Amino acid sequence: MGFIAIIGLLPRLVAFSMTDVCAKDDFECQHPNINQHGRLQVGRCRTTNIFHRMHSISMLDCLKECMVTSQCKGINYRSHWPLCDIVGVSEDFTPETDCVYTDISEWSKSIAGKCRVHTCNDGEKCVFDREKQKCITAYGPIPRDCSNQIGKQSGVYIIHPNQHTSMAAFCDMDYEKGGWTIVQRRFDGKESFDRDWNAYKRGFGKPSGEYWIGNDNLHAILSERKYKVRFILVDVSGNSAYAEYSNFYIGNEDSNYALSISNYSGNAGDGATDYTGTSLHGMVFSTKDKDNDLYEKNCAIHKCSGWWHRACTVGNINGKLIPGNEGEKTMHWKPLRKSFSLQETTMMIKPIEK
Ligand SMILES: *[C@@H]1O[C@H](CO)[C@@H](O)[C@H](O)[C@H]1NC(C)=O
Repeated sequence: MGFIAIIGLLPRLVAFSMTDVCAKDDFECQHPNINQHGRLQVGRCRTTNIFHRMHSISMLDCLKECMVTSQCKGINYRSHWPLCDIVGVSEDFTPETDCVYTDISEWSKSIAGKCRVHTCNDGEKCVFDREKQKCITAYGPIPRDCSNQIGKQSGVYIIHPNQHTSMAAFCDMDYEKGGWTIVQRRFDGKESFDRDWNAYKRGFGKPSGEYWIGNDNLHAILSERKYKVRFILVDVSGNSAYAEYSNFYIGNEDSNYALSISNYSGNAGDGATDYTGTSLHGMVFSTKDKDNDLYEKNCAIHKCSGWWHRACTVGNINGKLIPGNEGEKTMHWKPLRKSFSLQETTMMIKPIEK
């Protein structure tokens, strides 16, 4: 009996190893057996009610996951990543090259193995554990940033601002009602922030420690909703102050991440200006290898930081963390402690409540 079951599954399993012989973008060739009933909807995907997203799993495993999840109606599958979305009831379709949607009702329940028949409730999924079926809590809605993680603990989460962007970020769930997505965090000086364009573009460090989220990631998050930004600045004596801007946005790389920042409030003083007090609003990003500032010299080298330098900036949170030192290269916020190095900085964003 077991043998027959294996034979029955074999053609389908073989079909999933065709990627080696077919052209990279020829989905039909790579999966010759799976579209025999027209069950794949190639070139379009669901964009609402996505419960969960998984990386680096095969299409077969993605279908399995959907089959055992109580409210799953279908999957989005992107073979090039490869990326699997578990999708609930959804009416919309959005055209997207290389994305395939398939309805789970088109597939044989045998894919789910021992969970092919289950009675799990809404919000649960079936797992087979020690010869027994169990229903465990399945997924909540897919988090776009840290703001809909409220109720959870502070820590590192995977967030998905849009269909193509996923990243690990530290979510602060304690400060001011929580829901803050951390863009930059420094406290022990273990990570160097004296980095080039590509490092700032992609992000560096570890979300569990000191890090920069990455300019492409920041742009992706900010493009979804309106955000405010807050800087928390802690001096060497442990005194904490903040600066908030209720308008904050950065453009994409083609614009050199052009900055919108305005409407300061807080008790640290406005550090988003150059030394003449002129706002950094409208400035673009500069790094030591890409000088886009308005200064005759290179601000990123002068201040030891990638930033939206004008000529240059009085809020230098990406400078060197060297407590006890002062000077242009330190991690400083001049309106607060002149050019003395701060002990800790955090830059974080949260959507503006409507
Ligand atoms: C400016 O910020 C304050 C306080 O954060 C906020 O109440 C106000 O709506 C903001 N104004 C504008 C024009 O964004």
